Amino acid sequence: MRVSVFGLGYVGCVSAACLASLGHEVIGVDVNQVKVDLVNDGKAPVVEERIGELIADVVRADTLRATRDVHEAIMGSDVSLICVGTPSEPNGSLCTTYLERVTEEIGAAVAERGGRQTVVFRSTMLPGTCLNLLVPILEKFAGGTAGVDFGVAVNPEFLREGTSVRDFFDPPKTVIGELDRASGDVVAALYDGLPGEVFRVPVPTAEAIKYADNAFHGLKIGFANELGAVCQALGVDSHQVMDVFLADRKLNISPAYLRPGFAFGGSCLPKDLRSLVHAARRHDVSVPILAHVLPSNADHLQRAVELVERTGKRRVGMFGLSFKPGTDDLRESPLVELAERLFGKGYDLRIYDPNVNLSRLLGANREYIETRLPHLAQLLADSVDEVLDHAEVCLVGTGDPAVLSALPHGDGPVIVDLIHLPDADARRAEPGYVGLAW
Ligand SMILES: NC(=O)c1ccc[n+]([C@@H]2O[C@H](COP(=O)([O-])OP(=O)(O)OC[C@H]3O[C@@H](n4cnc5c(N)ncnc54)[C@H](O)[C@@H]3O)[C@@H](O)[C@H]2O)c1
Repeated sequence: MRVSVFGLGYVGCVSAACLASLGHEVIGVDVNQVKVDLVNDGKAPVVEERIGELIADVVRADTLRATRDVHEAIMGSDVSLICVGTPSEPNGSLCTTYLERVTEEIGAAVAERGGRQTVVFRSTMLPGTCLNLLVPILEKFAGGTAGVDFGVAVNPEFLREGTSVRDFFDPPKTVIGELDRASGDVVAALYDGLPGEVFRVPVPTAEAIKYADNAFHGLKIGFANELGAVCQALGVDSHQVMDVFLADRKLNISPAYLRPGFAFGGSCLPKDLRSLVHAARRHDVSVPILAHVLPSNADHLQRAVELVERTGKRRVGMFGLSFKPGTDDLRESPLVELAERLFGKGYDLRIYDPNVNLSRLLGANREYIETRLPHLAQLLADSVDEVLDHAEVCLVGTGDPAVLSALPHGDGPVIVDLIHLPDADARRAEPGYVGLAW
């Protein structure tokens, strides 16, 4: 394929050289004459393992060259990869200036070119940037309609500086955010033969995946470092702790707990986080991530309260009360906390949880419910229908089959989904359905 790569920094230079070595005919473009000259001399403009030899090879083989001339690059390519920088502004917002400028230049050149050019954004950008900011610029400067007259895709880059050439040839995954099928096909063909799963998704999803990845990577490092500091203060070998932690592929290094859902609770997580943070404080160890897990959880619960408030309705039904399905344990149940807050705000509440039967509330649970939600007995309903008959808005916090099968579609009460119902994707298109974080 004939490819132009805009921006010869870490991402662009590695992409250009690796694509050329796969057999594509590549033109690199940069505003910086020094970088252009370096590439044309067969030298790498960045320091990276293997990139020097690779650029020397592909320039010698005439499959890579560089220019400052956008017009020449667009005339000599059918697909353009945009790899310009998207740095932070002083206030933390994303700087899209370079993206906007290069998009204008490419659009103007595409207007003069016959045939269908596919413009692929590789730079990291917030969801919505491509469709709301860059596509209108392309349509204005190129003329015509994106997805019809020219292709558009978002193809985030997952390489790590230092091992980027290796990562290019053995990527963790390939993500293609496609405006239309034909645009996605062009990107898929670029990487044909490389290992790793290919995900073809809507454009904003592709943009968001990069942020999910990087936020999680930062969070993992911060978590490990904070835990290390606490362990050190407590005289424990943090690496030994993490060796065992990492060996747990069921609950720790696994998909467990990584789907957006409701707030957590129960008799262990809140208590143990509190005491760990307290122990850190006692030893003057600052642990901002660990210290903010419970506040984050409380904010998530508050989102559910706000969703009910926003409906403007007063008669509320709640399905689920125990802290998770399959148990009647109410201690530190986030659903109890939610019920209590709504009750405190004067909502007319009815609750149904198949696992919670007052007669079975013994010992700790009985005491807990009597102190935290003394009016529980009056609020508890005996059946799903009793709650549905009462409610103008229903909070669904359990996946119990009897509840799921009775939940109405469309005209009934507003459904506030706290658990991502099995049919959430279909329901999202229905009026009167609200997902907590989806
Ligand atoms: N560096 C990484 O490891 C990495 C990994 C994944 C994603 N990303 C993302 O990829 C993008 C690029 O990152 P980078 O580290 O390669 O940036 P960089 O700053 O190293 O390179 C950007 C290049 O774009 C050039 N440029 C700016 N405007 C231009 C224009 N109008 N026309 C042509 N060239 C232009 C600059 O001169 C520069 O050489 C960013 O959005 C970044 O967040 C970076």
